Amino acid sequence: MKISIINGPNLNLIGTREPGIYGSTTFEDYFQKLRKEYETIDFDYFQSNVEGELINEIQKAAKNMDGIILNAGAYTHTSIAIGDAIASIKIPVVEVHISNVEAREEFRKFSHISSKCAGTISGFGLKSYLLAVESFIKNS
Ligand code: DQA
Repeated sequence: MKISIINGPNLNLIGTREPGIYGSTTFEDYFQKLRKEYETIDFDYFQSNVEGELINEIQKAAKNMDGIILNAGAYTHTSIAIGDAIASIKIPVVEVHISNVEAREEFRKFSHISSKCAGTISGFGLKSYLLAVESFIKNS
């Protein structure tokens, strides 16, 4: 199975960014562990702070991957274009958040992408990504 993990703005700073909310492990360190745990899965990883680059990557992944795990960061709450990109492709997208967005500020409770995704996993720290991988395995 080929899974693309796509991270949006400021997620390159995980590990040092607001550690009380996002923890102190870098995404790269976590990703290495994830790769070791799921050796049979072919992972692709992409991070960008730029909305259009995330859309390009979603479209690219749709051509050669089986699914996408997407943490669109703050674009989750603002980007009609990312929502449209997800609606435009055939492979399933699982929305992921490290923090529990429902338990935070009001503006984080709205997502432009949830309704276009196969499901949402939010609030389990970096383990949200592992749970998203599991959702693909259990549904395959
Ligand atoms: C986030 C939650 C978003 O509200 C926030 O803007 C992020 C990270 C999360 O993973 O918890 O950048 O997507």
